[in-house]
Amino acid sequence: MSVVATNLCGIPLRNPLIAAAGTAGYGAEIADVVPASRFGAITTKSITPESRAGNPPWRVTDLPAGMLNAIGLANLGLDRFVDEVLPGLADLDTVLIGSIAGHCIDDYVEVATAFGDDAAASLRLVELNVSCPNTATGRLLGSDPDALAALVAAVREALGAKPMLVKLSPGDSDVAGLAIAAVRAGADGLTVANTYPAMSIDPETRRSRIGRAAGGMSGPAVHPIAVKLVHDVRARLAAEGLPVPIVGIGGVQSWSDAAEFTLAGATAVGMGTGLFVDPGAPRRVVRGLEKWVLRQDAAGIDDLVGGFEP
Ligand SMILES: Cc1cc2nc3c(=O)[nH]c(=O)nc-3n(C[C@H](O)[C@H](O)[C@H](O)COP(=O)(O)O)c2cc1C
Repeated sequence: MSVVATNLCGIPLRNPLIAAAGTAGYGAEIADVVPASRFGAITTKSITPESRAGNPPWRVTDLPAGMLNAIGLANLGLDRFVDEVLPGLADLDTVLIGSIAGHCIDDYVEVATAFGDDAAASLRLVELNVSCPNTATGRLLGSDPDALAALVAAVREALGAKPMLVKLSPGDSDVAGLAIAAVRAGADGLTVANTYPAMSIDPETRRSRIGRAAGGMSGPAVHPIAVKLVHDVRARLAAEGLPVPIVGIGGVQSWSDAAEFTLAGATAVGMGTGLFVDPGAPRRVVRGLEKWVLRQDAAGIDDLVGGFEP
């Protein structure tokens, strides 16, 4: 067995590298450029009950240390995803993770009910994108521990036995507190984290460089912040006796970025912006991790998870 093989919430992955939600299309789009078999898993873009056109352009801008985006959850909507896209994803040679988004609990429950159904058997895990504004309160659904717990508990019931990751929003000051609330409410694992609230202003036009005033920052700029979040979330969960797996995401471009996440406590590692920069990166990351595991004299990468020594 490969030294980088792992297991996420009971689902075997051939390696820990996951194409991050929204950066690989629905799954088939990235497979046109990078063979799906290079990834341990691919996460779909977030699906909402109704189709969404997304935000006006520009939705993405390049910055010196990463990317600022305000996509606005553009997607086909649940029915068309299940009828037109999902059947074509069943042949991808990797694990598929279905991402769910919405603006109220009912939205998530509707998508989770469909994703828990036999017709969606090719989605082996589900990830909740909780970085969405709640239409009732205007606050992010994932920014208040009680609201997050209510959301996760409702989805847990709708989803049945399928493993559920909750992808935390890093804008909140107590991300570990949100992690604990999510796990107590039924999350099987956590993804840490989504993009970071950010702005970029063109001084000549005095306007935003994207179609909205603010967006989400990703790429190398966020990497050290995300590594600390993974470390802190893992430590707080362990202290509470809630040792669930964590997917570390933020700024991975190289094997050593991924290895940092492993040592901080991540069972698997997402890559988003890095896929736009270099489609060859997934292969380099996985090969680099294999050599690193051997250099560390470990039997497998799982033995290095949380192996950071202060
Ligand atoms: C263009 C773009 C689209 C994204 N769409 C989604 C999405 O649909 N759902 C989601 O949970 N995260 C989405 N994300 C966030 C990524 O999955 C990831 O958490 C973030 O980009 C940080 O990782 P990175 O630095 O490797 O890009 C998106 C990010 C980008 C750059």
